[in-house]
Amino acid sequence: MKEEYLKIKDAALTALAEVTDAEALEAVRVKYLGRKGIFTSLMRNLGRASKEERPALGKMANEIKAELDAVYEAGKLRIGGAGNGGAGKGAAQFDLTLPGRAIPPGHQHPVTRVMTEVCSIFERLGFTVAEGPDIESDFYNFEGLNIPKHHPARDMHDTFYVSDNVLLRTHTSPMQVRTMEKQSPPLRMIAPGKVYRCDSDITHTPMFHQVEGFLVDRQVSFADLKGILSIFITKIFSKDTAIRFRPSYFPFTEPSAEVDISCVICKGRGCRVCKQTGWLEILGAGLIDPEVFKKVGYDPDEYSGFAFGIGIERIAMLKYGITDIRLFYENDLRFLKQF
Ligand code: FA5
Repeated sequence: MKEEYLKIKDAALTALAEVTDAEALEAVRVKYLGRKGIFTSLMRNLGRASKEERPALGKMANEIKAELDAVYEAGKLRIGGAGNGGAGKGAAQFDLTLPGRAIPPGHQHPVTRVMTEVCSIFERLGFTVAEGPDIESDFYNFEGLNIPKHHPARDMHDTFYVSDNVLLRTHTSPMQVRTMEKQSPPLRMIAPGKVYRCDSDITHTPMFHQVEGFLVDRQVSFADLKGILSIFITKIFSKDTAIRFRPSYFPFTEPSAEVDISCVICKGRGCRVCKQTGWLEILGAGLIDPEVFKKVGYDPDEYSGFAFGIGIERIAMLKYGITDIRLFYENDLRFLKQF
């Protein structure tokens, strides 16, 4: 009986391989697999086999039947039409029984996520959001911020110039001037966006993101600036993050400070990211210089204010423990899929 099964299997497979149209295919199916088909009858006769032989033969018959069914189904797809519920030749090219291809859900870039989080913290503190151009004039990027031509502070910015007076903005601070020119105090605003500097190493990229923040009103003091920034840092990191305000210099703020937080990568012990100092600078800040107020027509005797500029990639590095800033922009999916 075993030989008979194998002989019929071979004959059926040859017949299925040779068919070239739907009618012939259907005829082969009826001949071998139909209710009165050769293979079906043979299976019915299984009862005639001895008790010992029956289980192995039954298993073999089922396997052959499954194989013939699969080859028949493949034949349907190959020539189209037969047994397709009358859907027509073209429709048979699709095997509707196959599972669909899963489309993995996309997600936000880690820098976008941090940017959104930073903005939402300041929005909850009453700051409104404004955006400005990436291609900026020398006036807004430098002159209006008390950085005249030939001022040594220009060297700190490694500027990409488009022409003599047009450049890729090197920071979001031009938005202070643009906003104050148009609006009167009191002001409480953040300006997120891309900025550009000719700079690249493990903590610097030529394009990065900043969020500028500024507040102008009567009797604003450095204590207000410290209060707002401390709230921000404890919200974005955690309550036990160490913060230090380090005296610094910006031509558009006086006094000025840079704010560092304890390096979360080495827990302050010193590593290559924090250049063995245990601290990482995340932002620059200060009280707005009276010279800037004069340029936008505000009376510095009446108004005072503070401003800060936060480096978003630096925050993202610290939040996610990333040791090289350039990883954000290499588009390596193995890196990006982790967020
Ligand atoms: C400024 O850009 C000032 N405009 C900030 C400011 C605003 C000061 C308002 C006072 C008042 P600074 O060059 O330090 O400052 O840059 C601010 C932050 O941007 C840095 O603390 C750092 O976190 C980030 N940063 C600077 N250069 C790069 C770079 N090349 N790649 C990535 N992040 C950078």
